[in-house]
Amino acid sequence: MNTPVTSDPVLNKPTLLVVDDEAGPRDALRVILRPFFNIQTAESASAAVEVLNSQQIDIITLDQKLPDRQGIDLLQDIKHDHANVEVIIITGYGSLKSAMEGIRHGAAGYLLKPFNVTELLSLVNQTLEKKQRLDFLRHFIGTSTRLWGSDTESAQAWKELLAGYKAIAKSTSGSPSNVEDKSDLLPVLSDLLEAKDRQLLNHCSRVSFYATLLANRINLTQPEQKSLALGAFLHDIGKIGPEPYRFADDEITATEKSGGSQHHPEQGAKLVLPLGLPAEVGQIIAYHHERWDGAGYPFGLQGNGVPQLARIVCLAQTFDHLTAELPGRTPLSIDDACQQMLSYAGTHFEPKLTELFVHVVQECKASLPAMALAITPTDRSDS
Ligand SMILES: [Fe+2]
Repeated sequence: MNTPVTSDPVLNKPTLLVVDDEAGPRDALRVILRPFFNIQTAESASAAVEVLNSQQIDIITLDQKLPDRQGIDLLQDIKHDHANVEVIIITGYGSLKSAMEGIRHGAAGYLLKPFNVTELLSLVNQTLEKKQRLDFLRHFIGTSTRLWGSDTESAQAWKELLAGYKAIAKSTSGSPSNVEDKSDLLPVLSDLLEAKDRQLLNHCSRVSFYATLLANRINLTQPEQKSLALGAFLHDIGKIGPEPYRFADDEITATEKSGGSQHHPEQGAKLVLPLGLPAEVGQIIAYHHERWDGAGYPFGLQGNGVPQLARIVCLAQTFDHLTAELPGRTPLSIDDACQQMLSYAGTHFEPKLTELFVHVVQECKASLPAMALAITPTDRSDS
């Protein structure tokens, strides 16, 4: 087991909050984890919120069934109000469904009671390392303006970002070794999206999934398919800048009304330039808001002037905006979303591609939401 956690009392230990109403598991976790963490405990959701509001917490182990609230509800509040706190769900009522629900709402991992101590320590270690990686990236993108500067400044900033990330992620095989090694970049790019906002990562993951559904039905070469998956995953990378991320900014109605974040396609394409990714990936990022009728942004390209892979990602990201389940909004059903997509054929989208997309979505609609939710960026590391 790698041990990024330390038992050296001289060093500052991270703080872990155990949230569990039963004394047995609470005490067991306290005893097992005390060598590595400052331990706080809470017997209810309200007590946990009090602790969170009064001191710095790094990781939470969260019982799924609490006397005053369901753990999953508390998890959502924690991820909303304390986004940099990582949560591990520990439950005696586990199932694959509730595990996926927890992961979907931002839990770093999931353990069943009675837990295996080795598995617990391993998951806690992984979670702590994830938090350290995300904290580093949050700080970097929150303070470094050079990423968005001249080509030279941006290249230097990427070099520093990758070196810092590698130092933290040294125990993982996927840590980036250098900018030239493209296959190593996916973990850091995925973490960058999550460090900005977990909803951004989820959106990008789903869009990549939807785009690749279509890739299997048209004649794309293997390199084009890879570029499509990666480009779709990175299409909104321009949003990791200083402005807050808002999912709704890219919805068709919102952009037509407000023009919100219309610079993010160009900014994103420029941002990834020093990484030397395939040209198609940059094109997807730059052109994913162009429209078939030429009324899109930022360049107003029209028809076949918009690269085909960007046209596919435009479809995929619109479909996700219509169907994504997010707090405070009611998603369209898949049928209604398909109708809406078809109504945009010839204006926003290429007509034939729209029909094919809707056809593919209808074919697998029974399993579509679960498949899109289950997908993780690492699933496509070799796609
Ligand atoms: Fe976008």
